Amino acid sequence: MNILENDVEKILVSKERIAEIVDDMAKRISEDYKDKNLLLLCILKGSVVFFSDLMRKITLPMEIDFMKVASYGKGSTSTGNVRILLDLHREDFSNEDILIVEDIIDSGRTLSTLVEYLKMKGCRSVRTCTLLDKPGRREVPFTPDYAGEVIPDEFVIGYGLDYAEKYRELPYVGVLKPSVYMK
Ligand code: PRP
Repeated sequence: MNILENDVEKILVSKERIAEIVDDMAKRISEDYKDKNLLLLCILKGSVVFFSDLMRKITLPMEIDFMKVASYGKGSTSTGNVRILLDLHREDFSNEDILIVEDIIDSGRTLSTLVEYLKMKGCRSVRTCTLLDKPGRREVPFTPDYAGEVIPDEFVIGYGLDYAEKYRELPYVGVLKPSVYMK
């Protein structure tokens, strides 16, 4: 057992449930993109675990790529700006059907900004999928095209999600004990 598991209050989405979500989403994506030119886009770092599971279950040819973004003033409600730390580079985006893969949607600012940004670059289509959706935290309206589990407003970690850069390697999504972040 990973010693970090002592900090987990409860398991919210088990690894078995995650596998079901991944299978189901991959099937839908494989059907929906069979006549498209799929570019699966991983938003670092949180979505890397979900992304690597999902890409191996999609039964279509695809390209993969990566972006890294950070919100200005994360945690505050006053700003919606998103900083691009690693960008996507292409001569021409007009042949790309981009599917953005996220681990979680919280305020909605990251994905609403990214979708607009990629459309502005001239992508043929831009859609989104997320493992977790926390609609209770929305600051801007945003509905993903594919969503795994709708979750309450709890402090979740694991399966890519971190607290202070830790817990990403846990194989499930868990709720962190408040004693860990109240220190
Ligand atoms: C998380 C998550 C999304 C974003 C969602 O990333 O991976 O990218 O926040 O939040 P929003 O809907 O409020 O914009 P984070 O900034 O924690 O970085 P990380 O993925 O590197 O952990």
